[in-house]
Amino acid sequence: MCGIVGYCGNKQAAPILLEGLTKLEYRGYDSAGLAVRDGEDKVKIVKAKGRLQELANKTDDGKAMKGCCGIGHTRWATHGEPSENNAHPHHSDDFEVVAVHNGIIENFTEIKDKLLKKNYTFYSETDTEAIVKLIDYYYKKYNIGPIDAIAKTMVRVRGSYALAVMFKDHPGEIWVARKDSPMIIGVDSKASFVASDVPAILKHTRNVYYIGNLEMACLKGGEVHFYNLDGEEIEKELTKVEWDAEAAEKGGFEHFMMKEIHEQPKAVQDTINAYVKETGIDLSNVGITDEELKGLSQVHITACGSAYHVGMVGQYVIEKLARIPVRVELASEFRYRNPILSDDSMVIAISQSGETADTLAAIREAHGRKIKTLGIVNVVGSTIAREADHVMYTMAGPEIAVATTKAYSAQLIAVYILAIRIAKAKGMIDNDREAELIEELKKLPGKIERSLEDKERLQWFTAKFSNVHDVFFIGRGIDYAISLEGSLKMKEISYVHSGAYAAGELKHGTISLVEDGTLVIGVITQNDLYEKTVSNMVEVKSRGAYLCGLTNSGNYEIEDTADFTVYIPKTDELFAASVAVIPLQLMGYYMSVARGLDVDKPRNLAKSVTVE
Ligand code: G6P
Repeated sequence: MCGIVGYCGNKQAAPILLEGLTKLEYRGYDSAGLAVRDGEDKVKIVKAKGRLQELANKTDDGKAMKGCCGIGHTRWATHGEPSENNAHPHHSDDFEVVAVHNGIIENFTEIKDKLLKKNYTFYSETDTEAIVKLIDYYYKKYNIGPIDAIAKTMVRVRGSYALAVMFKDHPGEIWVARKDSPMIIGVDSKASFVASDVPAILKHTRNVYYIGNLEMACLKGGEVHFYNLDGEEIEKELTKVEWDAEAAEKGGFEHFMMKEIHEQPKAVQDTINAYVKETGIDLSNVGITDEELKGLSQVHITACGSAYHVGMVGQYVIEKLARIPVRVELASEFRYRNPILSDDSMVIAISQSGETADTLAAIREAHGRKIKTLGIVNVVGSTIAREADHVMYTMAGPEIAVATTKAYSAQLIAVYILAIRIAKAKGMIDNDREAELIEELKKLPGKIERSLEDKERLQWFTAKFSNVHDVFFIGRGIDYAISLEGSLKMKEISYVHSGAYAAGELKHGTISLVEDGTLVIGVITQNDLYEKTVSNMVEVKSRGAYLCGLTNSGNYEIEDTADFTVYIPKTDELFAASVAVIPLQLMGYYMSVARGLDVDKPRNLAKSVTVE
């Protein structure tokens, strides 16, 4: 996720900005930049691709940029590859307006087209450049001050933003605006600061203002004025930050994993927003046409780890909706199996990092056979994103905890959207069903949010079992795919042995492992399979298992069978994984915490596996 820092006061800005940006490194970034204005002189902008050290080298640790007012940015690419050109700050053609931005502007192509007609030129592929130029356009056209120009822009853009802007006519001032992207403002007696997160300014001040949605502010020295969308000045309360620097990086959560678990409603919402427009599903950014989808005879999904589990869900959802065969395969198997791929099939590689060695090799294998490839990838500009014929980006933002949560959830959304589109292109669903599925998709962020509310009870339950030796997860169909992810979450961070089994398969071996006190978690979100799975749960219960039942709210008769129950908000059964995975992630997390382990960096594991 991008990071913003701004400073205006009586000290040299650039070294303060650089230092602030290093405190935001944990958010992930691929390039960085600074803009500093020295009085009324032209603003100086320096950007660099890669680590912050590159930017420090280019600016002699900031000493080469003179001026007491400036803005800085670390960029996590969303629109346009990681490059110096796409790095922020961005500027208007005459450098009158310079800005950094965090968030996603959904209608930026529309705005860009309008501005191109007004003779603006664009040098980057970013959505940010469109906002900077739109502010400049309003500012000059109506000859209005910064607040009105920014307010007009806020009304015109759709999406999320934390914006910090400098105007040539207003030296020594930073103007900011916010909607749905984090931003705080700090003050001391002589200076003010803006940042996307507290750690960036903690060294200088603990006195902060939280700027609300659709609000603006002007920072000048130690003074800050706040405004609403109508340009009226509003009052804000100053708050004292009590966190230490480490807690601040985690947004007050104890671990990055918990922070990322809570970021899932947003990751899901942002991914939906990227592909679901007012007119329906729009894959024009992916570059796949309905013609191509219509002609598909088969889909091969290949991935590793949790991404493979998303593929398992995808297999059920695509087959159910589009009625074409889907084969899911571990990338490490696919690459050496000499797979049989027909010309009219497509290989989909799912990867958060876009760098997993086996998944990349699978894409190359498909290319060698001249088969079309699609990457569902989180990191913009990663190798899989560059090498796949088409890329569908997930909008989870950077993930820091080794055990994935929000990237998994965003990948599920990409797969659902693709499934709906293939089904539509093939004429397997009509407009009404498509509209119904899209409506259900839009409700998922709220349902995920509600599932998070049950966490205290899950913590209590998990802590009770913190000495357990084995945990088994069982389910059928999509519930089996959910079980696979629940089991992986449990074992990878808590080191408790766990396994996921298709519930009908238990009797073929696994049931011999069940003894008094074995914890068995039954996942039952699919109505037509409900009774079958419940029977399998009864079978293990009669052999001494302690049963936890995870099912849709309303299925209260599960209490006759299960010793502990977890209810999740009901959704279309095809999308159940998105909601059911939340309590399972929380159980894995709390098990690790109860056993006193390093949740974010489990032993022997890496976030991105770039070797075979
Ligand atoms: C590692 C991570 C997992 C991830 C897997 C695949 O094992 O710990 O969380 O699911 O790699 O990574 P990818 O970046 O390809 O999604």
